[in-house]
Amino acid sequence: MQGQGRVAYLANGHSLDVWRHPEFRSLLIRAIAWSSGAELPAHPIRCGLLGYGPAFNMGRGHAGWINATPGLQTVAMCDAQPARVEAAKEELPGLAGYFTDLDQMLAMNDLDLVVNILPHNLHAPMTLRCLEAGKHVVLEKPFCIGVDEADAMIAKACEKGLMLSLFHNRRWDGDYLTIRDVVSRGLIGEVFHIECGQGGYGHPGFWWRSDKAISGGVMHDWGAHFIDWILNLAGGKITQVMGDFQKRMWHSVTNEDHGQVVIRFDNGVVADYWTSTISALGRPKWLILGTKGAIQANWGDEITLVSYASGVRHEGKVPVKLPSYGSTQYYRNVADHLLMGEQLLVTAEQARRVILVIDAAQRSSALGTSVSLADGYE
Ligand SMILES: NC(=O)c1ccc[n+]([C@@H]2O[C@H](COP(=O)([O-])OP(=O)(O)OC[C@H]3O[C@@H](n4cnc5c(N)ncnc54)[C@H](O)[C@@H]3O)[C@@H](O)[C@H]2O)c1
Repeated sequence: MQGQGRVAYLANGHSLDVWRHPEFRSLLIRAIAWSSGAELPAHPIRCGLLGYGPAFNMGRGHAGWINATPGLQTVAMCDAQPARVEAAKEELPGLAGYFTDLDQMLAMNDLDLVVNILPHNLHAPMTLRCLEAGKHVVLEKPFCIGVDEADAMIAKACEKGLMLSLFHNRRWDGDYLTIRDVVSRGLIGEVFHIECGQGGYGHPGFWWRSDKAISGGVMHDWGAHFIDWILNLAGGKITQVMGDFQKRMWHSVTNEDHGQVVIRFDNGVVADYWTSTISALGRPKWLILGTKGAIQANWGDEITLVSYASGVRHEGKVPVKLPSYGSTQYYRNVADHLLMGEQLLVTAEQARRVILVIDAAQRSSALGTSVSLADGYE
């Protein structure tokens, strides 16, 4: 052998299936980059948490997922409540900065990325400040309250050449991945109807999530996950949205009690989702009909599959893919994108579509008619 250089040898690319597999492709791209001398940056991507709330300990969760991802590191946190800063000092000792004001955290030179974990009405304004300060942003769901906010954030990220990604961690949930797998194998034929929902009967509680001015409304919470799932499963362009919001019982809070959206796609798929605090009986989490079968799933560790794909009826249970490491897989992709230029899996444009649907559903409900979405709303 002569000269100096790096050789990467991959021996398993012998069938088309392998070449089409996203993980093999990314391995190949990494091998090419490494053999041609690409080096990783000297330091990890330094992340600051904006919001360290007590409701679900999401700040602590994000710090754990970030620190479990080689190439990323939590270096700072900020929460307006001093008590939450004290909690972070105990739970995340040794950070370079603990702040009660975003401007102080943004003034840190050695901060690359902010994770925005704030109530929904603060998603857009605080993200815009982070982008303006030159920081990449990971934003918790939902992207924002209105489409105009989504457009402003996307424009700012483009102008500054920064990453803006949404924390759609539930794309890695076991039941959703299992459903996608069953659908992509053709076991229920062509999907034409998707029905899903969640909720129950009871006062939603006195917290910011029930305050429409802060939360955006009843569909901005779980709806962000369900609508993202629907858009990924349905595939086509959205053509029409019908929404229905009901306010009948819980007048001590401003969120709607019940919200429904029916989405039509240009490939003929119709999806119907509702979220409710006044549904005394529920519907299954998922009911998906295809030309050769159907899937039903209800939060358990298996899904019911009926398939006529082989010509005869088969009914069985498919175990849900476990364990699910969605949040760390999400951050793995963020690191791969920022450090190695790999494709970002959850883009701001995808997240905008979710807000577009909720916005159209609210308009439709107010108008009492379906709303058509013009070309461009893919
Ligand atoms: N992806 C998921 O699975 C998941 C789960 C739970 C929550 N979330 C999302 O996380 C976000 C936060 O929800 P949460 O449950 O952590 O709420 P929370 O009420 O527990 O926390 C919000 C925190 O923001 C702080 N805050 C408010 N205004 C601030 C400001 N101007 N500057 C700094 N800090 C400020 C508050 O002091 C509070 O500690 C929401 O978008 C929610 O939908 C996502």
